[in-house]
Amino acid sequence: MNDRFNQWVKTIQSDIEQALSDYLPDGKSQPKQLRQLNQAMRYAVLNGGKRIRPLLVYAAGQLFDAPATILRPVACAVEMIHAYSLVHDDMPCMDNDVLRRGKPTVHIQFGEAMALLTGDALQAQAFSVLASAGNGDTALNVARTRILAEAAGSSGMCGGQAIDLTSIGKPLSYNELEQMDRLKTGALLKAAVLLGALSGNTPAPEALDALETFANAIGLAYQVVDDILDVTEDTAGLGKTAGKDARDDKPTYVSLLGLQESRKLAETLCQQAHDALGQFGQKAQWLHDIANLVVYRKK
Ligand code: IPE
Ligand code: IPE
Ligand code: MG
Ligand code: MG
Ligand code: MG
Repeated sequence: MNDRFNQWVKTIQSDIEQALSDYLPDGKSQPKQLRQLNQAMRYAVLNGGKRIRPLLVYAAGQLFDAPATILRPVACAVEMIHAYSLVHDDMPCMDNDVLRRGKPTVHIQFGEAMALLTGDALQAQAFSVLASAGNGDTALNVARTRILAEAAGSSGMCGGQAIDLTSIGKPLSYNELEQMDRLKTGALLKAAVLLGALSGNTPAPEALDALETFANAIGLAYQVVDDILDVTEDTAGLGKTAGKDARDDKPTYVSLLGLQESRKLAETLCQQAHDALGQFGQKAQWLHDIANLVVYRKK
């Protein structure tokens, strides 16, 4: 990863921060109870997070000369779904976490009922924002809506979370663990790549296939590394409680394969992701660098 990439990441992150702020309700609305919900939505989404999914939307979009005017709302929609998934993931009925992105979790700050509603409202807002990213091609806009919906729902993130929560204390096989992680984490990352790619000039089928291979590899690598970091990093560095997976007896790559094998797997997946980009040449440099960021990140 070089200075040019780091500079690009900073530019997109700040663009996205502003856009997310603009797309969220302003937190000043009346009555006071509604204001609280809107403030909780802003709290959950703004000022934190690595924004990896928006970066993927932009980097994939760039391959097909997608305009920022479309990539911006698409990226914000994906990030809102992600932020909602984190709010619910942290609730006492799920992972019961008190720290997220270096701040008290939404249910600690605003109460459980408000956290539930915050997630619900962010999911709805995500689809509203995605609808605003229309380019006049109705069939394409419907296809993009379906991609995000399927990545978020029972065939994607929610499905994976259901497997996760019903597997506590149960040893999963390698294939079961992989399926869980492809759904709970991989599905939304893949949607980010595909939605970016479908925001510009029409991609050739081979290009979409290659991007799907790339996204499958980094989607899985993302959770493998998340599991590793839970063991190797501390709470201050992560901005979320470290060591939680083992304490909760969660099935993870580290619990199944051990640390060293998990690291090797992440590196193999990184290589698979890089190999998938061959046909794009230099144009896919940012996607190549994002794969490194995913696998060699420290938080
Ligand atoms: C954490 O996601 C939850 C997983 C899906 C592994 P991120 O590591 O992308 O969290 P933020 O958005 O940077 O906080
Ligand atoms: C969560 O996985 C994946 C989501 C869909 C939110 P984790 O439960 O491991 O994520 P963290 O470690 O709390 O961020
Ligand atoms: Mg979880
Ligand atoms: Mg969790
Ligand atoms: Mg985790």
